Amino acid sequence: MSARIRVSSLLPDFPWDTIAAVKAEAAAHPGGIVDLSVGTPVDPVAPLIRAALNSVAEVPGYPTTHGTPELRAAAVDALKRRYGVTDIDPAAVLPVIGTKELIAGLPKLLGLGADDLVVIPEAAYPTYEVGALLAGAEVVRADGLTQLGPRNPALIYVNSPSNPTGKVLGVDHLRKVVAFARERGAIVASDECYLGLTWEGRAVSILDPDVCDGDHTNLLAVHSLSKTSNLASYRAGFVTGDAGLVAELLEVRKHSGMMVPFPIQAAMTAALSDDAHEAQQRERYRARREILRKALEAAGFRIDHSEAGLYLWSTKGENCHTTLDWLAKRGILAAPGEFYGPGCAEYVRIALTATDERIDAAAARLGEH
Ligand SMILES: Cc1ncc(COP(=O)(O)O)c(C=O)c1O
Repeated sequence: MSARIRVSSLLPDFPWDTIAAVKAEAAAHPGGIVDLSVGTPVDPVAPLIRAALNSVAEVPGYPTTHGTPELRAAAVDALKRRYGVTDIDPAAVLPVIGTKELIAGLPKLLGLGADDLVVIPEAAYPTYEVGALLAGAEVVRADGLTQLGPRNPALIYVNSPSNPTGKVLGVDHLRKVVAFARERGAIVASDECYLGLTWEGRAVSILDPDVCDGDHTNLLAVHSLSKTSNLASYRAGFVTGDAGLVAELLEVRKHSGMMVPFPIQAAMTAALSDDAHEAQQRERYRARREILRKALEAAGFRIDHSEAGLYLWSTKGENCHTTLDWLAKRGILAAPGEFYGPGCAEYVRIALTATDERIDAAAARLGEH
């Protein structure tokens, strides 16, 4: 029998496990911890979404991997209404069990392997790298594609608005990515989970007609309902774009049982059909962002980018662990920049995802010297 490879040995340490000590220090604050690290939603799921979930809770049969026609139509309509994305065939929508699992599996699902190159942003959501490593592919961090020289990547990730930096890539930048990918035969996976949370300027989808001229060939847009609809606990997202690629993903996922539970599909349909709860959530985050931003700047932090998304990309011009300790003494937990890339060691990522009461507590503590 050949030696078994421990797959986990191919992967980095699970980042959140590495900040247990500083979390314990923040938790010891007499006023309790203000956890601004992971970015998990804290506001309740909207009643209309819960009602949709409940309305089919008695249905016993297997759900379809492709999702109900109602769900796929709701996704197409929401992309058009909310972001001006047109020309999507409902058949080219595929629900996923939260987008993290899709991203972690995508290079493998697309047939990438040891000979392939996956390009991820220089400051990146860690799962892009994980997915490439699980497929045995090579990973390169590059924000400018000229950095790649003559190499032909198989897959290019873009993430606008970005986690962790909150940076938005403009139409011209995205057009260049699409042109480069077309020239080199690469697939572009655009992670758009923060598109609905833009505070300054305009963020656009890779499928926006201004970006791709209505041609979705080799383009995939990944959408999560975790943040815009507070559905992180439900595990709800979808991928759309190139109909041929989506059909291929569907085929493999059908064989693998990667089905979104039927009540979650109903909940997603309701969430995608209603913009009021989404707008209400956006306004909650906008208010929290204002309070935190002011308090951080008054406490000597500089905030870079952060024009969109759920994080303030903040620095005190020192190593992130020094800043993390400083915050933990005030009972505040943030994420160290080094989770996101080698060039990020002087940053901490501060999430807007805490209740109004906890955000006020953080602001008050930041004001104490
Ligand atoms: C950039 C980015 N992509 C994907 C995800 C995964 O979201 P989910 O699996 O909840 O859809 C996250 C979660 O924080 C994220 O920040």
